[in-house]
Amino acid sequence: MTNDQLEEIVTAIPMPALMVDQTERIIAVNTEAKTLLGQNILQRHFATFLRQPQVIEAIEQSLRTKGTSNTRHLSNDGAQDTTFEVQCRYMNGVGAVSGGALLAVFQDVTHVEQANQMRRDFVANVSHELRTPLTALMGFIETLRGPARDDEAARDRFLQIMNDEANRMNRLVGDLLSLNRVESEERVRPKEQLELTALLKSTLNSLRPLADDADVVLSLDAPEDKIMLVGDSDQLLQVFTNLIENGIKYGGSGGRVEVRVKSSDHDTAMRGPGVRVQIVDRGPGIDPKHVSRLTERFYRADSHRSRQLGGTGLGLAIVKHILNRHRGRLRVESDLGKGTVFTVILPR
Ligand SMILES: Nc1ncnc2c1ncn2[C@@H]1O[C@H](COP(=O)(O)OP(=O)(O)OP(=O)(O)O)[C@@H](O)[C@H]1O
Ligand SMILES: [Mg+2]
Repeated sequence: MTNDQLEEIVTAIPMPALMVDQTERIIAVNTEAKTLLGQNILQRHFATFLRQPQVIEAIEQSLRTKGTSNTRHLSNDGAQDTTFEVQCRYMNGVGAVSGGALLAVFQDVTHVEQANQMRRDFVANVSHELRTPLTALMGFIETLRGPARDDEAARDRFLQIMNDEANRMNRLVGDLLSLNRVESEERVRPKEQLELTALLKSTLNSLRPLADDADVVLSLDAPEDKIMLVGDSDQLLQVFTNLIENGIKYGGSGGRVEVRVKSSDHDTAMRGPGVRVQIVDRGPGIDPKHVSRLTERFYRADSHRSRQLGGTGLGLAIVKHILNRHRGRLRVESDLGKGTVFTVILPR
């Protein structure tokens, strides 16, 4: 088989691929491999372009044993670190003086690596979030069994704190389960017919006690006409509850949280009929550097304050997934000292 024919075969492989023969030169290479490793690599020594020790070793081994070897090639495509799984297979009867050559194929496993990393981060985060209240509980149990055994006042105070910490763990587990549920249903379109203004009114009513406690006035500004949507009413209730609750908890110093509804037949973001619900507070606002990350799980702009207020950092992650399921969008406009506007855009 001529090198031209080998080149044809390598070109047909739909991922970076190259061949190295017993002279240790690259005798065939496809466009994908040139993009990954360099344009002028044909006929050059392989180690000039594949410099990572584990890759050099795998290729040398494959040439020596005329057998199979596997390894990883780490790179960066300019935007992110990339990982390739490299598989070397030996072909007899080709290459210089037909001594055989190895075919190395580079499979991009970057997304698999990223998913693994996310899973590890998630487990680490959950463990950390659970451990904090658990440590507090264990500490108080210890104190109640020992030094505070006969101190009635201390006992009441500690039980109160233990109750709060247990509630926090309970909320966290509840939020995790609800996030899981929403995620697993994300591809199932909701079917229920619902009326948006009524849903918002009932959300506001259930949050009124919280608002009263925080000295916050809640208001609703919605058109007279009914706004009919197809959606999941429990989930949308959760979206607006999370957003208005955040407005009260973090923006409550502004004294009011307003909900404004606007319906339109040509919403630019929906490319068709849509409705926008804005949740506006006049609190301290959010530093722009945090804004793009708010919907990440456990991300908190002000983690001390959020924890103090019993937040799990999952509220906006849940909001994002519910809106994805509804083919909706979430926008955040905020600046320090200017308050915050969360806009939910839904197709109508
Ligand atoms: N209206 C707001 N004003 C200022 N900061 C906000 C506002 N809404 C959210 N944030 C910030 O965004 C973070 C993420 O909010 P999110 O609702 O996801 O979590 P949380 O409120 O901490 O916990 P949870 O909602 O699960 O109880 C909050 O911790 C807070 O720092
Ligand atoms: Mg929240």
